[in-house]
Amino acid sequence: MTKTVFLINGPNLNLLGKRQPAIYGADTLEDVAKRCEALAKPAGLGLRSMQSNHEGQIIDWIHEARDSAEAIIINPGAFTHTSVAILDALNAFDGLVFEVHISNVHKREAFRHHSFVSGRADGVLAGFGIEGYELALRRVISLLG
Ligand code: DQA
Repeated sequence: MTKTVFLINGPNLNLLGKRQPAIYGADTLEDVAKRCEALAKPAGLGLRSMQSNHEGQIIDWIHEARDSAEAIIINPGAFTHTSVAILDALNAFDGLVFEVHISNVHKREAFRHHSFVSGRADGVLAGFGIEGYELALRRVISLLG
């Protein structure tokens, strides 16, 4: 049976490529999805890319992953720093979790230094630009392979 990875992006990441390009770069979320698809397909993995600006929708997708995915790669955006509810949802998911941040949050404002998600994540990537998503996916492929 095909193993599936959910690629979940949180608030404001729909504006990737347009929003603060000096921090987040010029590539769009569609570029991210395409690059990840190009890695997942030959590895025989199913990939579902999703983005929402709404915390509840992200939680619903994490719940859906309980029965439909072996791994979640998530960039929770600003919810990283605020959402106990997303942490609780991830704690109810038994598969792999990788947390990705395009920017190096540790080099930025102090309020970005704490992540509620990192304590649940199997790995955390920050500051690798959109390549962070591909690096996380490579790790998922080698662990699920
Ligand atoms: C981000 C970092 C967060 O602090 C910020 O709120 C984002 C994007 C990143 O990818 O670097 O929206 O998660």
